[in-house]
Amino acid sequence: PHTPLVDRFGRKVSYVRLSVTDRCDFRCVYCMGENMSFLPREQVLTLEEIGLIAQAFAELGTNKIRLTGGEPLVRRDLLQLVQTVGDLPQITDFAMTTNGSQLPTYAKALKAAGLKRLNISLDSLIPERFKQLTRIGDLNKVIKGIEAAIEQGFKGIKLNAVILKGRNDDEVVSLVEFALAKGIDISFIEEMPLGEINEHQRASTFCSSDDVRALIEQRYSLLASTDHTQGPSRYYRIASAHAPCQFSEAQLHQIKIGFISPHSHNFCDSCNRVRVTAEGRLLLCLGNEHSVDLRATLRQYPNQIEPLKQAIIQAMDLKPERHHFSTEGEVQVLRFMNMTGG
Ligand code: GTP
Ligand code: 5AD
Ligand code: SF4
Repeated sequence: PHTPLVDRFGRKVSYVRLSVTDRCDFRCVYCMGENMSFLPREQVLTLEEIGLIAQAFAELGTNKIRLTGGEPLVRRDLLQLVQTVGDLPQITDFAMTTNGSQLPTYAKALKAAGLKRLNISLDSLIPERFKQLTRIGDLNKVIKGIEAAIEQGFKGIKLNAVILKGRNDDEVVSLVEFALAKGIDISFIEEMPLGEINEHQRASTFCSSDDVRALIEQRYSLLASTDHTQGPSRYYRIASAHAPCQFSEAQLHQIKIGFISPHSHNFCDSCNRVRVTAEGRLLLCLGNEHSVDLRATLRQYPNQIEPLKQAIIQAMDLKPERHHFSTEGEVQVLRFMNMTGG
């Protein structure tokens, strides 16, 4: 589609990730410190302000919106915003990234409001371990949430797993088999160094996508696939199992296995996305601090879409060429992941 949202490197921005809150009902070890403080309410955009941002992007040629957090479903009255975005005719791909814990309550209403796809984080299938990784999360609720989403007939459900050496790398195959049993896709994510977390030493737990793939390939042979969702995942499909297994050929072929590898396979050349934080900072790249304050524009010109569109168009010039994440454990971005939603 025609869009004025093109950066200095010729990349078209067609995908915006809107963080609706920095709060979360979990405290995942790679995402937050143990004692987080959250934004005071007046610094967070209202749902109406976020809705206007969504509309501005839609009018500027964006066709994909993803709501993120923190955990989007802990934001009160979120369904109102889901409906607003669901009603935007330009947005043909409308998704949410969630930890799944509130899906038993909200799956049905989300579907009715026009949400199309769900990415649900799941790092472990062992309850005690799930508790350690999320500090306070309840695995059982998440499993129920995944089942509720499937029951509502969401077509695009994908699991997201961050694999950490020595913590959950022994569960890679079980996670794939859980996805196979449910008939849903799964992506494995390399951990990114966002925010300094004292209790969690990233360099020692880093697990590359190639390591994860090798673990899967001990049981299943994988074929690179051409599927893509305008996201950073590289997808594979299962060609066959090395030994007889509980899954039929059809089940094995049904699901996609994605790898999001910011460290080992940089995907910045084809980056098509920007983010808006819960406080209205338009972030041009996950791995840098380049940003524009949309909240200032919104509060100077309440309910006006034109100044907002101008601010967004001008921001494109600030989009940096790439991130410079490293696996050595140093942190270049002080912002925590829950400010950005990934
Ligand atoms: P779809 O491809 O639409 O299913 O979604 P997605 O993979 O873009 O979204 P999701 O919210 O599930 O993100 C999964 C992981 O990918 C998160 O950890 C994100 O931080 C990471 N990710 C998404 N976009 C980028 C990006 O531009 N740069 C980096 N470094 N990581 C990204
Ligand atoms: N590195 C990689 N992925 C992360 N996520 C949260 N923090 C990090 C991090 N430091 C993931 C969550 C969720 C997605 C939105 O981002 O597990 O699946
Ligand atoms: Fe919450 Fe997601 Fe961060 Fe976990 S990764 S603490 S579920 S925002």
